Amino acid sequence: MVKPELVERAVEVLRSGGVIALPTETVYGLAANAEDELAVRRVFAIKGRPATHPLIVHLAGVEHLTSWAREVPEAARRLADAFWPGPLTLVLPRTPRATDAITGGQDTVALRVPGHPVALAVLNALGGGVAAPSANRFGRVSPTTAEHVRVDLGSDVDLVLDGGPCDVGVESTIVDLSSGSPAILRPGGLSAEAIERVLGHPVPVRVASKVRVSGSLESHYAPRAGVVLAEPTEAAARVRALREQGLSVGVLGPRGLELPGDVPRFDVPEDPAGAARVLYARLREADEKGHDVLVACLPSASGLGIAVRDRLARAAAPRTPHH
Ligand code: TXA
Ligand code: MG
Repeated sequence: MVKPELVERAVEVLRSGGVIALPTETVYGLAANAEDELAVRRVFAIKGRPATHPLIVHLAGVEHLTSWAREVPEAARRLADAFWPGPLTLVLPRTPRATDAITGGQDTVALRVPGHPVALAVLNALGGGVAAPSANRFGRVSPTTAEHVRVDLGSDVDLVLDGGPCDVGVESTIVDLSSGSPAILRPGGLSAEAIERVLGHPVPVRVASKVRVSGSLESHYAPRAGVVLAEPTEAAARVRALREQGLSVGVLGPRGLELPGDVPRFDVPEDPAGAARVLYARLREADEKGHDVLVACLPSASGLGIAVRDRLARAAAPRTPHH
């Protein structure tokens, strides 16, 4: 685990306007002091992310909520109490503390208390909020180890804190509570079922049009290789068809799949939480082998399987110009 001196160093870097890579339980974040506008702008520049895509502000605990959110509806309170620290982000009406640099000029702010001891140690020592998108270049696969961050961002970050591999492996679930009834803006590391259990009613998925969620662009989380989705029973046929076109093919899927004998398989377990944990690391590994196409087996559409299917669909989507 990270030494106390390193946590202190991280806080110094944040206080002096620097940018660090911070482990969370979902993915690694590219973190800046949320109240330092220049540092926040540097985060956008390093990622190559459009300034209109707002950032999540990470807090040390639920007690900080009202200094960033001017209205906290009962449903938000219940979700925060049930799931923080954890892979849940709440979108709420902002206070002036959440500046335009973070919110992209929207009147709402995305807030979360991350469930990782290193992130919490840094946040507690800093006392304020930390703006942190995933620590990858815009449109690419999110990092789940410190090594992924170093490979992607190299010397662009002032300090990389190594908190080990992320336990959840996909980004937080984003719930909009800023108006009317709650809606899921991004499926993620907390299942819709768990959220619905606490709220006592169904919560629809509303993929953003008005609110700008960059993870909701068509092509995202994209490796260099093409990605083709398959139900496990179709995987072998897909592999054969692609090979007949002369393509080099790898498979992301569970053990026990029936495949042509010589096809490289990158292990993504059948159980959705296990699949979420390793998904991004396996996408990277498979990509490094230089295959033309990766055939990705879809996990069942329940629990974290919804988030895994969502990320795989975006990885498979047609590329937009910024790729
Ligand atoms: O698990 C996570 O959420 C990770 C870790 C580092 O905490 N962070 C993360 O950040 O995934 P990022 O920037 O890659 O994704 C944050 C998403 C973006 O899609 C952004 O558009 C959305 O949150 N978002 C931020 N503020 C928002 C707002 N006010 N309304 C709607 N969506 C918002
Ligand atoms: Mg991201």
